[in-house]
Amino acid sequence: MSRRLPIDTRVLIVDPEQPDAGAIAEAARILRAGGLVAFPTETVYGLGANAMDAVALNRIYEAKERPANDPIIAHIARPEQLDELARDIPPAARHLANAFWPGALTLVLKRAPGVPENIAAGRDTVAVRMPAHPLARALLLAADVPVGAPSANTFTRPSATTAAHVLEDLDGRIDLVLDGGPTTIGVESTVLDLTGTAPVVLRPGGVLLEELQAVLPETTLAPRYLAEDSASDAPGQLLKHYSPRARVRLFTGEPAAVRARMRAEANALIAAGETPGLLLAEEDITELGAFTDREILGSERDLAAVSRRLFEALRALDRRGVDAILVRDFGREGLGAALWDRLLRAAEGQVIDTAASTPGAGFTADEG
Ligand code: TXA
Ligand code: MG
Repeated sequence: MSRRLPIDTRVLIVDPEQPDAGAIAEAARILRAGGLVAFPTETVYGLGANAMDAVALNRIYEAKERPANDPIIAHIARPEQLDELARDIPPAARHLANAFWPGALTLVLKRAPGVPENIAAGRDTVAVRMPAHPLARALLLAADVPVGAPSANTFTRPSATTAAHVLEDLDGRIDLVLDGGPTTIGVESTVLDLTGTAPVVLRPGGVLLEELQAVLPETTLAPRYLAEDSASDAPGQLLKHYSPRARVRLFTGEPAAVRARMRAEANALIAAGETPGLLLAEEDITELGAFTDREILGSERDLAAVSRRLFEALRALDRRGVDAILVRDFGREGLGAALWDRLLRAAEGQVIDTAASTPGAGFTADEG
């Protein structure tokens, strides 16, 4: 990969509800000139480039150190832009766009001629989303081009939910960061593939599987968790993703058993001279709150709060320099599906199932 000299990354603080017109105009100018602008969406921060400019898109791959086989989502602000990006759009896509856009749903469709193939890493498809965040919408309208934007983190790092996270990873590599404060959903959009015979969720996210099934009952969840070396046939599906520097262990099972097992593991690490970091629910505080390096995500009954804090908490434990992060799971219902997906990837598949007879039992590839 070519190495460029660091560039001067500017930061503009912008009111997320009523974005300053001057800041938006400047960011739009940079995008139209082929530059890179990080901006908040309601899910996570995106690293944007003009989606119709193959050279600008290449700069995203370079800044993120992202492998060239992992495709990028095109962001739009007006429904007509969907027809510029995709062809043979099925009625289901219009249905879903009406129901969930603007919002945290990304649709994978057949790519229209003239759309750079590197947005889709050479595939004949394109992923499209209309974000709801007022700042993102203002930027997309002002730029007046579709904007390709992956999450604004370097490859395999946890996604960025604040401007500070963006700078942690990308300072000196991008032109501008629009700082609109922390994002509200905190996990990425749901990626739904509409190019096959039935709709398939490739990545669970902010729009729930249950909500999609209310519109399209035949929708199924089929994220694939592959070892890193087989990533080429399934972009973005590799297990090593959302990874803090510390190794992550994901504990699943009945809550009391999970807490007991996490306590035992944390004590074993301390006995071995290592520093454990714990990622906990409020419900765990009584039993596990005494460990000094711990982050409370929120109540297990408020998965929206847990989702909002997840990536910041992973990064916070990393900043403290812990050796291992122990995290409990939050079920698979509602946002639990997205949380499970992110935690499983952060843990690179290292799941400790307290209900299993063999310790350290793995996971099944097609978790429903
Ligand atoms: O919430 C989000 O989706 C954020 C914000 C910035 O919009 N973006 C985001 O982008 O998470 P990224 O690049 O980190 O993740 C995009 C996901 C990846 O899993 C990628 O493989 C998948 O979408 N994807 C993109 N284009 C695709 C395509 N043509 N076919 C299949 N999957 C695709
Ligand atoms: Mg990402």
